[in-house]
Amino acid sequence: MKISIIDREGNKHILEADNNSTLMEVIRDKGLDIEAACGGCCACATCHVYISDKWLNKLKQKDDEEESMLDQAFDVKNNSRLSCQIELSEELDGLELELAPE
Ligand code: FES
Repeated sequence: MKISIIDREGNKHILEADNNSTLMEVIRDKGLDIEAACGGCCACATCHVYISDKWLNKLKQKDDEEESMLDQAFDVKNNSRLSCQIELSEELDGLELELAPE
């Protein structure tokens, strides 16, 4: 599956992903600039991304843990998600998102 990501400089990257990963793992492992300080435990909010509007409803809803971490993040928008909480699956092939500011 492929994921389309706009980095903080505005450059677009098309990443090949496998669907047993989280979105954060793919972004991190392909070397894009994402801190993901807690390693995916939903405890840091440094894996914050903006999901493109047309994909937002195709993701599983945020759970309470993700909501409360996002409350502590900066520049939160209505399409903000924590990428470590998004499990990739074939239905998300073509997912489009943008990295949030650090
Ligand atoms: S990596 Fe820490 S909350 Fe996602």
